[in-house]
Amino acid sequence: MNSIKLRKNNLCIENISLLTLAKKYHTPFYCYSLTQLKNNFVSFKNTFKSIKPLICFSIKSNSNLFILKELKKIGSGADVVSVGELLKALRAGIKPEKIVFSGVGKTEEEIKIAIKKKILLINAESESEVNLINKISKKLSKKTSIGIRLNPNISGKTHKKISTGSKYEKFGLLYNDFINLCKKVKKMKNLKLEGLSVHIGSQITDIEPFEKVLSLLNKLLKKTNINFKYIDLGGGMGISYAKKEKEINLKKYSQLVKNFLKKKNIRIIFEPGRIIVGNTASIISKVIYIKKSGNKRFIVLDVGMNNLMRPALYGAKHQILPIKKTNKKISGEIEFVGPICESSDKFLNQKSFPRIKEGDYVCLTHAGAYGMSLSSNYNVRPMIAEILVTGSKHRLIRKRQNLNDLIKN
Ligand code: LLP
Repeated sequence: MNSIKLRKNNLCIENISLLTLAKKYHTPFYCYSLTQLKNNFVSFKNTFKSIKPLICFSIKSNSNLFILKELKKIGSGADVVSVGELLKALRAGIKPEKIVFSGVGKTEEEIKIAIKKKILLINAESESEVNLINKISKKLSKKTSIGIRLNPNISGKTHKKISTGSKYEKFGLLYNDFINLCKKVKKMKNLKLEGLSVHIGSQITDIEPFEKVLSLLNKLLKKTNINFKYIDLGGGMGISYAKKEKEINLKKYSQLVKNFLKKKNIRIIFEPGRIIVGNTASIISKVIYIKKSGNKRFIVLDVGMNNLMRPALYGAKHQILPIKKTNKKISGEIEFVGPICESSDKFLNQKSFPRIKEGDYVCLTHAGAYGMSLSSNYNVRPMIAEILVTGSKHRLIRKRQNLNDLIKN
Protein backbone atom coordinates (compact mmCIF):
# COMPACT_ATOMS: atom_id res chain seq x y z
CA MET A 1 0.00 0.00 0.00
CA ASN A 2 1.16 3.48 -0.79
CA SER A 3 -0.43 6.89 -0.58
CA ILE A 4 0.21 7.80 -4.22
CA LYS A 5 -1.73 6.62 -7.24
CA LEU A 6 -1.60 7.13 -10.98
CA ARG A 7 -4.56 9.03 -12.42
CA LYS A 8 -4.73 9.99 -16.08
CA ASN A 9 -0.96 9.71 -16.41
CA ASN A 10 -0.32 11.91 -13.38
CA LEU A 11 0.81 10.66 -10.00
CA CYS A 12 -1.60 11.91 -7.37
CA ILE A 13 -1.61 12.02 -3.63
CA GLU A 14 -5.24 11.72 -2.60
CA ASN A 15 -7.00 14.02 -5.12
CA ILE A 16 -4.10 16.29 -5.99
CA SER A 17 -1.54 15.74 -8.68
CA LEU A 18 2.06 15.89 -7.54
CA LEU A 19 2.74 18.21 -10.46
CA THR A 20 0.33 20.79 -9.02
CA LEU A 21 2.18 20.59 -5.71
CA ALA A 22 5.62 20.67 -7.33
CA LYS A 23 4.71 23.88 -9.10
CA LYS A 24 3.33 25.44 -5.93
CA TYR A 25 6.00 24.53 -3.38
CA HIS A 26 9.77 24.85 -3.46
CA THR A 27 11.26 21.41 -4.20
CA PRO A 28 12.36 19.22 -2.59
CA PHE A 29 9.60 18.73 -0.03
CA TYR A 30 7.89 15.97 1.90
CA CYS A 31 4.28 15.37 1.03
CA TYR A 32 1.97 13.41 3.35
CA SER A 33 -1.47 11.89 2.95
CA LEU A 34 -3.58 12.44 6.04
CA THR A 35 -6.08 9.80 4.95
CA GLN A 36 -3.31 7.21 4.68
CA LEU A 37 -2.02 8.17 8.13
CA LYS A 38 -5.42 7.76 9.73
CA ASN A 39 -6.08 4.52 7.84
CA ASN A 40 -2.80 3.07 9.02
CA PHE A 41 -3.46 3.89 12.66
CA VAL A 42 -7.06 2.69 12.62
CA SER A 43 -6.16 -0.50 10.81
CA PHE A 44 -3.39 -1.22 13.35
CA LYS A 45 -5.85 -0.56 16.17
CA ASN A 46 -8.50 -2.80 14.60
CA THR A 47 -6.11 -5.67 14.02
CA PHE A 48 -5.38 -5.76 17.74
CA LYS A 49 -8.84 -4.76 18.90
CA SER A 50 -9.52 -7.92 20.88
CA ILE A 51 -6.65 -7.12 23.25
CA LYS A 52 -7.13 -3.32 23.40
CA PRO A 53 -3.46 -2.40 23.58
CA LEU A 54 -2.17 1.06 24.37
CA ILE A 55 -0.67 2.28 21.10
CA CYS A 56 2.21 4.65 21.70
CA PHE A 57 3.33 6.06 18.36
CA SER A 58 7.11 6.10 18.21
CA ILE A 59 7.89 9.77 17.78
CA LYS A 60 11.42 9.19 16.56
CA SER A 61 9.96 7.95 13.28
CA ASN A 62 8.20 11.24 12.66
CA SER A 63 7.98 14.17 15.02
CA ASN A 64 5.98 16.67 13.00
CA LEU A 65 3.64 18.35 15.47
CA PHE A 66 0.71 18.32 13.08
CA ILE A 67 1.09 14.57 12.51
CA LEU A 68 1.29 14.01 16.27
CA LYS A 69 -1.85 16.05 16.84
CA GLU A 70 -3.72 14.03 14.25
CA LEU A 71 -2.59 10.76 15.80
CA LYS A 72 -3.55 12.01 19.23
CA LYS A 73 -7.06 12.77 17.97
CA ILE A 74 -7.54 9.14 16.99
CA GLY A 75 -6.27 7.79 20.29
CA SER A 76 -2.52 7.47 20.03
CA GLY A 77 -0.12 7.72 22.92
CA ALA A 78 3.61 8.30 22.44
CA ASP A 79 6.89 6.47 22.77
CA VAL A 80 9.60 9.06 23.37
CA VAL A 81 13.37 8.84 23.71
CA SER A 82 14.35 12.37 24.74
CA VAL A 83 12.96 15.28 26.65
CA GLY A 84 12.47 17.03 23.32
CA GLU A 85 10.20 14.26 22.11
CA LEU A 86 8.45 14.17 25.47
CA LEU A 87 7.67 17.89 25.36
CA LYS A 88 6.50 17.58 21.77
CA ALA A 89 4.14 14.73 22.68
CA LEU A 90 2.67 16.84 25.49
CA ARG A 91 2.41 19.82 23.18
CA ALA A 92 0.46 17.70 20.73
CA GLY A 93 -2.01 17.13 23.55
CA ILE A 94 -1.04 13.53 24.29
CA LYS A 95 -1.82 12.77 27.92
CA PRO A 96 1.14 11.84 30.17
CA GLU A 97 -0.60 8.59 31.09
CA LYS A 98 -0.21 7.54 27.45
CA ILE A 99 3.52 8.26 27.24
CA VAL A 100 6.40 5.83 27.69
CA PHE A 101 10.04 6.89 27.74
CA SER A 102 12.74 4.53 26.39
CA GLY A 103 16.47 4.92 25.76
CA VAL A 104 19.79 3.82 27.27
CA GLY A 105 21.07 7.30 28.08
CA LYS A 106 18.37 9.32 29.81
CA THR A 107 19.99 12.20 31.69
CA GLU A 108 19.15 13.35 35.21
CA GLU A 109 17.38 16.38 33.74
CA GLU A 110 15.29 14.20 31.43
CA ILE A 111 14.34 11.80 34.21
CA LYS A 112 13.35 14.70 36.47
CA ILE A 113 11.01 16.11 33.85
CA ALA A 114 9.52 12.68 33.07
CA ILE A 115 8.80 12.13 36.78
CA LYS A 116 7.31 15.57 37.26
CA LYS A 117 5.08 15.15 34.22
CA LYS A 118 3.86 11.81 35.63
CA ILE A 119 4.20 9.82 32.43
CA LEU A 120 2.96 6.23 32.33
CA LEU A 121 6.33 4.46 32.38
CA ILE A 122 9.98 5.27 32.29
CA ASN A 123 11.44 2.17 30.65
CA ALA A 124 14.82 1.83 32.33
CA GLU A 125 17.68 0.11 30.55
CA SER A 126 20.31 -0.37 33.28
CA GLU A 127 20.75 -0.76 37.02
CA SER A 128 22.42 2.66 37.21
CA GLU A 129 19.43 4.27 35.56
CA VAL A 130 17.05 2.54 37.97
CA ASN A 131 19.10 3.81 40.91
CA LEU A 132 19.04 7.32 39.52
CA ILE A 133 15.27 7.26 38.96
CA ASN A 134 14.86 6.06 42.54
CA LYS A 135 17.15 8.78 43.89
CA ILE A 136 15.44 11.57 42.00
CA SER A 137 11.99 10.24 42.95
CA LYS A 138 13.01 10.25 46.60
CA LYS A 139 14.19 13.87 46.35
CA LEU A 140 10.90 14.83 44.76
CA SER A 141 8.92 12.68 47.25
CA LYS A 142 7.38 10.66 44.45
CA LYS A 143 6.76 7.02 43.72
CA THR A 144 7.59 6.56 40.06
CA SER A 145 6.20 3.84 37.78
CA ILE A 146 8.89 2.20 35.78
CA GLY A 147 9.35 -0.57 33.30
CA ILE A 148 12.56 -2.47 32.76
CA ARG A 149 13.75 -3.33 29.29
CA LEU A 150 14.65 -6.91 28.65
CA ASN A 151 17.32 -7.78 26.14
CA PRO A 152 15.98 -11.16 24.98
CA ASN A 153 19.04 -12.07 22.93
CA ILE A 154 16.77 -12.72 19.97
CA SER A 155 17.68 -11.45 16.55
CA GLY A 156 15.04 -9.48 14.68
CA LYS A 157 16.55 -10.77 11.42
CA THR A 158 16.75 -7.27 10.09
CA HIS A 159 19.46 -4.84 8.94
CA LYS A 160 22.29 -4.95 11.48
CA LYS A 161 22.15 -1.21 12.10
CA ILE A 162 18.54 -1.36 13.24
CA SER A 163 18.74 -4.59 15.20
CA THR A 164 18.51 -4.21 18.97
CA GLY A 165 17.59 -7.60 20.43
CA SER A 166 20.90 -9.43 20.60
CA LYS A 167 23.16 -9.61 23.61
CA TYR A 168 25.85 -7.72 21.72
CA GLU A 169 23.71 -4.60 21.56
CA LYS A 170 23.55 -1.87 24.21
CA PHE A 171 19.80 -2.18 24.78
CA GLY A 172 18.04 -3.61 27.84
CA LEU A 173 19.20 -6.17 30.39
CA LEU A 174 19.99 -9.79 29.73
CA TYR A 175 17.60 -12.41 31.12
CA ASN A 176 19.29 -13.12 34.47
CA ASP A 177 20.31 -9.51 35.05
CA PHE A 178 16.75 -8.49 34.29
CA ILE A 179 15.34 -10.86 36.92
CA ASN A 180 17.89 -9.77 39.53
CA LEU A 181 17.17 -6.11 38.90
CA CYS A 182 13.41 -6.68 39.18
CA LYS A 183 13.97 -8.21 42.62
CA LYS A 184 16.01 -5.18 43.69
CA VAL A 185 13.42 -2.72 42.40
CA LYS A 186 10.72 -4.42 44.42
CA LYS A 187 12.58 -3.25 47.52
CA MET A 188 13.03 0.34 46.40
CA LYS A 189 10.63 2.65 48.18
CA ASN A 190 10.27 5.28 45.52
CA LEU A 191 9.74 2.98 42.55
CA LYS A 192 6.81 0.94 41.38
CA LEU A 193 7.75 -1.82 38.96
CA GLU A 194 4.86 -1.93 36.53
CA GLY A 195 6.26 -2.78 33.16
CA LEU A 196 8.48 -5.05 31.15
CA SER A 197 9.56 -3.67 27.82
CA VAL A 198 11.20 -5.36 24.88
CA HIS A 199 12.03 -4.12 21.39
CA ILE A 200 14.21 -6.26 19.15
CA GLY A 201 14.66 -4.00 16.15
CA SER A 202 12.97 -2.24 13.29
CA GLN A 203 11.69 -3.22 9.84
CA ILE A 204 11.08 -6.82 10.94
CA THR A 205 9.03 -8.62 8.32
CA ASP A 206 9.28 -12.14 9.69
CA ILE A 207 6.86 -13.19 12.44
CA GLU A 208 9.23 -15.73 13.97
CA PRO A 209 11.36 -13.30 16.06
CA PHE A 210 8.19 -11.88 17.66
CA GLU A 211 7.00 -15.42 18.34
CA LYS A 212 10.29 -16.21 20.04
CA VAL A 213 10.04 -13.09 22.21
CA LEU A 214 6.55 -14.02 23.37
CA SER A 215 7.58 -17.53 24.30
CA LEU A 216 10.58 -16.20 26.22
CA LEU A 217 8.28 -13.81 28.07
CA ASN A 218 6.00 -16.71 28.95
CA LYS A 219 8.93 -18.56 30.41
CA LEU A 220 10.09 -15.50 32.33
CA LEU A 221 6.66 -14.78 33.80
CA LYS A 222 6.25 -18.38 34.92
CA LYS A 223 9.67 -18.49 36.48
CA THR A 224 9.59 -15.18 38.34
CA ASN A 225 5.99 -14.76 39.33
CA ILE A 226 6.32 -11.02 38.91
CA ASN A 227 3.02 -9.34 38.18
CA PHE A 228 3.62 -6.81 35.48
CA LYS A 229 0.74 -4.47 34.83
CA TYR A 230 2.10 -3.69 31.37
CA ILE A 231 4.11 -5.54 28.80
CA ASP A 232 5.50 -3.15 26.24
CA LEU A 233 6.30 -5.09 23.08
CA GLY A 234 7.90 -2.10 21.36
CA GLY A 235 7.56 -1.52 17.64
CA GLY A 236 9.52 -2.98 14.76
CA MET A 237 6.74 -4.15 12.46
CA GLY A 238 8.13 -4.04 8.93
CA ILE A 239 6.45 -2.59 5.85
CA SER A 240 6.99 -3.28 2.17
CA TYR A 241 8.88 -0.52 0.40
CA ALA A 242 8.16 -1.86 -3.06
CA LYS A 243 5.68 -4.14 -4.79
CA LYS A 244 6.11 -7.82 -3.92
CA GLU A 245 8.31 -6.99 -0.94
CA LYS A 246 7.39 -8.80 2.26
CA GLU A 247 5.70 -7.02 5.15
CA ILE A 248 4.87 -8.21 8.64
CA ASN A 249 1.74 -10.32 8.98
CA LEU A 250 -0.03 -8.24 11.63
CA LYS A 251 -2.99 -10.60 11.86
CA LYS A 252 -0.70 -13.45 12.82
CA TYR A 253 1.08 -11.22 15.29
CA SER A 254 -2.21 -10.23 16.92
CA GLN A 255 -3.19 -13.88 17.21
CA LEU A 256 0.12 -14.68 18.88
CA VAL A 257 -0.29 -11.85 21.36
CA LYS A 258 -3.86 -12.88 22.06
CA ASN A 259 -2.73 -16.42 22.87
CA PHE A 260 0.09 -15.09 25.00
CA LEU A 261 -2.36 -13.02 27.06
CA LYS A 262 -4.65 -15.95 27.93
CA LYS A 263 -5.21 -16.12 31.69
CA LYS A 264 -3.01 -13.09 32.25
CA ASN A 265 -4.12 -9.75 33.57
CA ILE A 266 -1.70 -7.63 31.59
CA ARG A 267 -2.15 -4.66 29.26
CA ILE A 268 -0.06 -4.69 26.12
CA ILE A 269 1.69 -1.56 24.92
CA PHE A 270 2.95 -1.20 21.35
CA GLU A 271 5.35 1.43 20.09
CA PRO A 272 4.84 1.36 16.32
CA GLY A 273 6.54 3.97 14.18
CA ARG A 274 7.24 2.89 10.63
CA ILE A 275 4.02 0.91 10.15
CA ILE A 276 2.00 4.02 11.02
CA VAL A 277 3.85 6.66 8.97
CA GLY A 278 6.17 4.87 6.55
CA ASN A 279 3.93 4.81 3.49
CA THR A 280 2.22 8.14 4.17
CA ALA A 281 4.81 10.38 2.50
CA SER A 282 6.84 10.89 -0.63
CA ILE A 283 9.55 13.38 -1.35
CA ILE A 284 8.98 15.47 -4.43
CA SER A 285 12.23 16.44 -6.09
CA LYS A 286 13.43 18.10 -9.27
CA VAL A 287 15.98 16.70 -11.70
CA ILE A 288 18.72 19.34 -11.74
CA TYR A 289 21.10 17.74 -14.21
CA ILE A 290 21.46 14.58 -16.20
CA LYS A 291 25.11 13.82 -16.45
CA LYS A 292 26.69 11.18 -18.65
CA SER A 293 29.87 9.55 -17.43
CA GLY A 294 31.15 6.76 -19.65
CA ASN A 295 28.30 4.29 -19.93
CA LYS A 296 26.59 5.62 -16.89
CA ARG A 297 23.90 8.23 -16.59
CA PHE A 298 23.71 10.15 -13.31
CA ILE A 299 20.38 11.77 -12.61
CA VAL A 300 21.21 14.56 -10.17
CA LEU A 301 18.27 15.46 -7.95
CA ASP A 302 17.77 18.48 -5.71
CA VAL A 303 17.12 16.16 -2.75
CA GLY A 304 20.17 14.99 -0.85
CA MET A 305 21.18 12.47 1.77
CA ASN A 306 20.71 15.21 4.36
CA ASN A 307 16.97 15.10 3.56
CA LEU A 308 16.69 11.31 3.32
CA MET A 309 19.48 9.48 5.11
CA ARG A 310 18.11 5.96 4.85
CA PRO A 311 19.78 4.93 1.56
CA ALA A 312 23.19 6.19 2.70
CA LEU A 313 22.88 4.80 6.24
CA TYR A 314 21.24 1.44 5.66
CA GLY A 315 21.40 0.90 1.92
CA ALA A 316 17.62 1.34 1.99
CA LYS A 317 15.82 1.46 -1.32
CA HIS A 318 13.07 4.00 -1.86
CA GLN A 319 11.34 3.65 -5.19
CA ILE A 320 11.72 6.64 -7.51
CA LEU A 321 8.89 7.46 -9.90
CA PRO A 322 8.44 10.19 -12.46
CA ILE A 323 5.39 12.20 -11.50
CA LYS A 324 4.12 12.19 -15.09
CA LYS A 325 3.74 8.87 -16.84
CA THR A 326 5.31 8.35 -20.22
CA ASN A 327 5.66 5.15 -22.20
CA LYS A 328 9.06 6.09 -23.56
CA LYS A 329 12.06 4.68 -21.79
CA ILE A 330 15.72 5.25 -21.24
CA SER A 331 17.91 2.28 -20.48
CA GLY A 332 21.45 1.51 -19.45
CA GLU A 333 23.20 2.20 -16.19
CA ILE A 334 21.17 4.86 -14.41
CA GLU A 335 21.93 6.21 -10.96
CA PHE A 336 19.87 8.69 -9.00
CA VAL A 337 22.11 10.86 -6.84
CA GLY A 338 21.84 13.97 -4.69
CA PRO A 339 23.87 17.19 -4.67
CA ILE A 340 25.85 16.48 -1.46
CA CYS A 341 29.61 16.13 -1.56
CA GLU A 342 29.76 12.50 -0.48
CA SER A 343 29.79 9.47 -2.69
CA SER A 344 27.18 7.85 -0.40
CA ASP A 345 24.73 10.55 -1.50
CA LYS A 346 22.95 8.19 -3.86
CA PHE A 347 19.44 6.83 -3.88
CA LEU A 348 18.88 4.16 -6.46
CA ASN A 349 20.36 2.32 -9.43
CA GLN A 350 18.14 1.35 -12.34
CA LYS A 351 18.63 -0.49 -15.59
CA SER A 352 15.80 1.38 -17.25
CA PHE A 353 13.56 4.30 -16.36
CA PRO A 354 10.77 6.26 -18.04
CA ARG A 355 12.26 8.98 -20.21
CA ILE A 356 13.09 11.97 -18.10
CA LYS A 357 14.79 15.30 -18.70
CA GLU A 358 16.35 18.10 -16.70
CA GLY A 359 13.70 20.15 -14.91
CA ASP A 360 11.29 17.20 -14.59
CA TYR A 361 10.02 16.07 -11.21
CA VAL A 362 10.25 12.68 -9.53
CA CYS A 363 9.03 11.36 -6.23
CA LEU A 364 10.79 9.12 -3.74
CA THR A 365 8.20 6.95 -2.07
CA HIS A 366 7.66 5.52 1.45
CA ALA A 367 9.62 8.33 3.08
CA GLY A 368 7.25 9.05 5.97
CA ALA A 369 9.20 7.15 8.63
CA TYR A 370 12.74 8.18 9.58
CA GLY A 371 12.79 10.56 6.61
CA MET A 372 12.34 14.08 7.92
CA SER A 373 13.17 13.03 11.49
CA LEU A 374 16.65 11.84 10.47
CA SER A 375 17.44 14.82 8.28
CA SER A 376 20.18 17.33 8.94
CA ASN A 377 21.70 20.62 7.80
CA TYR A 378 24.77 18.94 6.33
CA ASN A 379 26.43 21.10 3.67
CA VAL A 380 24.49 24.05 5.20
CA ARG A 381 21.36 23.01 3.42
CA PRO A 382 18.00 24.05 4.84
CA MET A 383 15.61 21.42 6.15
CA ILE A 384 12.88 21.05 3.57
CA ALA A 385 9.16 21.75 3.89
CA GLU A 386 6.47 19.26 4.80
CA ILE A 387 3.10 19.42 3.05
CA LEU A 388 -0.01 17.59 4.09
CA VAL A 389 -2.78 16.59 1.72
CA THR A 390 -6.38 15.74 2.61
CA GLY A 391 -8.69 15.09 -0.31
CA SER A 392 -8.23 18.05 -2.62
CA LYS A 393 -6.70 20.29 0.03
CA HIS A 394 -3.06 20.82 0.79
CA ARG A 395 -1.30 22.76 3.50
CA LEU A 396 2.15 23.47 4.81
CA ILE A 397 2.81 21.63 8.07
CA ARG A 398 6.46 22.62 8.36
CA LYS A 399 8.06 25.53 6.60
CA ARG A 400 11.25 25.11 4.67
CA GLN A 401 14.05 26.36 6.89
CA ASN A 402 15.16 29.88 6.20
CA LEU A 403 18.69 30.04 4.84
CA ASN A 404 19.34 33.28 6.71
CA ASP A 405 18.66 31.50 10.03
CA LEU A 406 21.03 28.79 9.02
CA ILE A 407 24.02 31.00 8.33
CA LYS A 408 23.91 32.88 11.65
CA ASN A 409 26.27 30.67 13.65
N1 LLP B 1 10.46 1.41 20.30
C1 LLP B 1 11.78 1.52 20.47
C2 LLP B 1 12.36 1.32 21.79
C3 LLP B 1 12.61 1.81 19.35
O1 LLP B 1 13.93 1.90 19.52
C4 LLP B 1 12.02 1.99 18.08
C5 LLP B 1 12.84 2.31 16.92
C6 LLP B 1 10.61 1.89 17.96
C7 LLP B 1 9.87 1.58 19.09
C8 LLP B 1 9.89 2.08 16.66
O2 LLP B 1 10.24 1.11 15.75
P1 LLP B 1 9.45 0.95 14.35
O3 LLP B 1 8.03 0.52 14.65
O4 LLP B 1 9.46 2.27 13.67
O5 LLP B 1 10.23 -0.07 13.62
N2 LLP B 1 16.28 4.93 11.44
C9 LLP B 1 16.00 3.54 11.14
C10 LLP B 1 15.08 2.92 12.18
C11 LLP B 1 15.58 3.08 13.59
C12 LLP B 1 14.63 2.51 14.60
C13 LLP B 1 14.99 2.95 15.96
N3 LLP B 1 14.11 2.49 16.97
C14 LLP B 1 15.42 3.44 9.73
O6 LLP B 1 15.28 4.45 9.05
O7 LLP B 1 15.14 2.33 9.26
